Amino acid sequence: MDMTKVQPRSGEHNVEDLDALREGFDWEEIKKDFSWYKTGKVNAAYEAIDRHAENPNKKDQVALLYSAPDREESVTFEQLSKQSNKTANIFKKYGVQKGDRVFLFMPRSPEFYANFFGILKVGAIAGPLFEAFMEQAVRDRLEDSEATMLITTPELLKRVPVEDLPHLKQIVLIGANDGTEGDNYINFEEEMAVASENFDIEWVDREDGMLIHYTSGSTGKPKGVYHVHNAMIQHYATGKWVIDFKDDDIYWCTADPGWVTGTSYGIFAPWLHGVTNVIRGGRFSPESWYETLDKHNVTIWYTAPTALRKFVSAGDELVKQYDLSSLRHVMSVGEPLNPEVITWALRVLDLRIHDTWWMTETGAMLIVNLPSMEIRPGSMGRPIPGVEAAIVDNEGNELPPNQMGNLAIKKGWPSMMRAIWKNPGKYESYFIKDWYVSGDSAYMDEDGYFWFQGRLDDVINTSGERVGPFEVESKLIEHKAVAEAGVIGKPDPERGEIIKAFITLNPGYESSDELLEDIRQFVKTGLSAHAAPREIEIKDSIPKTRSGKIMRRLLKSWELGLPTGDTSTLEE
Ligand code: WTA
Repeated sequence: MDMTKVQPRSGEHNVEDLDALREGFDWEEIKKDFSWYKTGKVNAAYEAIDRHAENPNKKDQVALLYSAPDREESVTFEQLSKQSNKTANIFKKYGVQKGDRVFLFMPRSPEFYANFFGILKVGAIAGPLFEAFMEQAVRDRLEDSEATMLITTPELLKRVPVEDLPHLKQIVLIGANDGTEGDNYINFEEEMAVASENFDIEWVDREDGMLIHYTSGSTGKPKGVYHVHNAMIQHYATGKWVIDFKDDDIYWCTADPGWVTGTSYGIFAPWLHGVTNVIRGGRFSPESWYETLDKHNVTIWYTAPTALRKFVSAGDELVKQYDLSSLRHVMSVGEPLNPEVITWALRVLDLRIHDTWWMTETGAMLIVNLPSMEIRPGSMGRPIPGVEAAIVDNEGNELPPNQMGNLAIKKGWPSMMRAIWKNPGKYESYFIKDWYVSGDSAYMDEDGYFWFQGRLDDVINTSGERVGPFEVESKLIEHKAVAEAGVIGKPDPERGEIIKAFITLNPGYESSDELLEDIRQFVKTGLSAHAAPREIEIKDSIPKTRSGKIMRRLLKSWELGLPTGDTSTLEE
C-alpha cells in the first residue's frame, strides 16, 4: 500500500471538490446561512443556541452531552438557552456592561457553558482560563485584561490574588456552601434559583469583542488575543467543510475551553450547526476516552497528536474492547501529526485522521484536510476556500514550491484576531506587508499541500500546549536558589517537546536532587503544571548576547549536540 497518499472514503461529503469550491468563492455565500443576514441582529450566542431553541424541530435535541466520572447530564438547546438567559440576567443585575471582560476560571461543566453564553448575551467579552493555572498565571491574565468579573469556585479562588486586582469588582462563586463570603461575592446557585429565564439579548456589531484567549510568545508575558463575533462565519464554514457536520452527528472535541480549540471547535462550530456536542470532564486515560467514544456513539472526533500517540502506545488489543463503529473520521490539531499515527488509525480503526493547522491568533482552521481530499501523511493539508496561504521570505516575498520559509496568510480572513489586548505594537509585529506571518516554518509542494517544519521562534509546544520560555524563566528566577535561567523545548517522542531549564545557582546553594525537585515544584505550583520543567540542568553560566538576551538557540544546540552556528553576539 502506498502510504504517501491516502485516498478519500466513499460517502456523501458536504464538499466533494475543494478546487471547485475555491473557484470564485465569496464569504458572502456563507453569511446567508446566518439569521443576522436577514434580520441584521448579531450575537454569536443567538446563532449558536437561541436560534435552535426557537426552532420547534430542534429545541428538544440534546445540545450538550456532559460526561464525567461523577456526573452525566444532557442539556437540550432550549435548556441551554434558558440557563444562559439566567446567567445573563445575573451579570446584568450586577452591572456587567457591553465590552466588559468577564473571566471564567472553573472546571469544564454544564455551568461553564451556561455562563459562557450568558457573558456573550450581555455583550461582554469572555475570557476562559485553564483550570490548571496557578496564582501567577491567573494574576497575569486578570491584570492585563482588567477583568471586572470572575466566575470561579471556592477551591480555585485560593489561586486568585483578589487584593492585587483593583479592576476585579465581583466574583461569582459556584458551589459555595453559604453566603458568608462578603459584598463582592455572588452566590451562583442562589442567584440562578431566582433569575428569570427570559432575557433581551444585547445585539452587537459583528466587529464587537467576543473572546480573549491568552497565549504565549517567545518574549514577554502571555498576550491577550482578541476575537470578535465575526469569527463565527469561519467557525461555521470550517464546521461545514472540514468537520463535515450533518444534522445527526454526535461530535466530541477533546480540547479544554481555556484553549482556542475548546471554544472555536468545542463551542461555536458544533452549535452553530446545531449538532450534539459531547463534553467530557475528568482526566485523560486511553480507556476512559475509548469508553466515551463507544458509549455516546461519537461520529466525529477532534483531538490532538499528543493524545493520539498515547492511544498508539496503549496497543492494538485495548481498542478491540470497544465498539467505535459510529466514528466517521478523526481530526487533529496543535502539533505535527506523525505519519505513524495516521498509519495506525488506518490499520486499527479503519479511519483517516485529518490534520488541521491554525493558531490562537487565526481563530479558526486555515490549512486542512477535507474528508473528500487525498491526504498525504506528514502534510497539514491545503488552505480552505477564501484563504490564501504562502511561504514567504523575511521581506514578504512569496517563495516557489518546495522551498522552506515563513508560513504566511494573506490578511483578512473572517476569524482573524482583531488585536492583541492593549498591545498594538505586538499586533503589528505579526504582519509583513499584507501577510500575517505565523512564526512556523513550512514548505508547500507542487500540489499546494503544506508541510510543517518547525517553529521559528523559541515558543515551546509540549503535549500541544504552547509555553513561552520567558514566563518559565521569570518564575524560575523568583526561586531563592536560582540566579539565572534559560528555557528550551527538547524533542520528546510522546510529548512533542518537553521543557528543559538551564539555571545558575545563587551563592550558598549546592546542587542536589531535593533542590531540583523543589525548583520544579515551585514552577508547578506558582505558574502551572504544564509549564514546569521536566529537566533542570545546573550550569556555571547561561549564554547571553552582549545586550543581555538569553541565547536559547545556543542552549538548544548544546543540548542536541548540533553545530552552534553564529555566536558572534555572545557575551564574553
Ligand atoms: C502548532 C491553536 C503542526 C504550530 C490551535 C502553531 C501545528 C501553534 C498544527 C499554534 C499542525 C498547530 N501541525 N503544528 N496541524 N496545528 N500547530 O495557538 O506551531 O496553541 O503555530 O494552537 O501550534 O498553537 P496554538
